[in-house]
Amino acid sequence: MREDLTRRGFLGAAGAAVVAGVTSEVAAATEGKEAPKGGPIKIIGLSCSPRPGKTTAAALTVALEAAKAAGPNVETELVELAGLNIPVFDPAAPGSADFEKVAAKLTDPKAAGILVGTPVYFGSMSSLCKAFLDHCMALRKGFALRNKVAGVVAVGGMRNGGQELTIQTVQAALLAQEMILVGDGRPTAHRGATLWNQNDDISKDELGLSTARNLGRRVAEVALALRGPA
Ligand SMILES: Cc1cc2nc3c(=O)[nH]c(=O)nc-3n(C[C@H](O)[C@H](O)[C@H](O)COP(=O)(O)O)c2cc1C
Repeated sequence: MREDLTRRGFLGAAGAAVVAGVTSEVAAATEGKEAPKGGPIKIIGLSCSPRPGKTTAAALTVALEAAKAAGPNVETELVELAGLNIPVFDPAAPGSADFEKVAAKLTDPKAAGILVGTPVYFGSMSSLCKAFLDHCMALRKGFALRNKVAGVVAVGGMRNGGQELTIQTVQAALLAQEMILVGDGRPTAHRGATLWNQNDDISKDELGLSTARNLGRRVAEVALALRGPA
């Protein structure tokens, strides 16, 4: 690995011709690099729904608002995978330039917390979510997501359509990245945010919205605690 490799430099040089093997260089370049103690942190909401701006994005927006309210040093960003080219992961195939762009956001040392949101598809995560998490194998080589705080948001068309199962399958992939997993904080305090989509609307799901707020707040407060005072 080149000593002078920076994330910005890498992305500029790589352009669209990025290959999966190079992603590990991004991972290695950010490994062990943390934002300054007490500095601002960013919480990223990663929407793994193929439908942009729909209920998964809406649930993440609620969680991100709560994260932002957790402290003056918390910035947030919603990243949607919808419309990006994130193919089924094939270890032998060239990597995805779109994956690289999102990976750069996630591995940024300022990104101290990540909320992964997925619709429930037959009791599990969306295929887009699975594809993205499988591409993250490249980041695992340098454990570039290590010690980032993670929470999971699942939105289903039924009140009990498999949201908790879905959260656990996503958590399994995040645990393998040495991420620090949290659930929705008190008073709900279970596995994560579990929302019910009623006609493409989550605004009437008071319980689900409270889990989203409690998860967003919890991810931010743990990330702030890990970052520590200046
Ligand atoms: C292929 C497919 C499978 C689904 N399976 C489930 C399911 O098992 N349980 C459930 O509660 N909802 C299920 N749904 C409904 C979606 O989870 C729900 O509409 C969700 O809010 C969609 O997220 P989005 O608005 O971000 O696209 C399914 C939808 C699709 C398209």
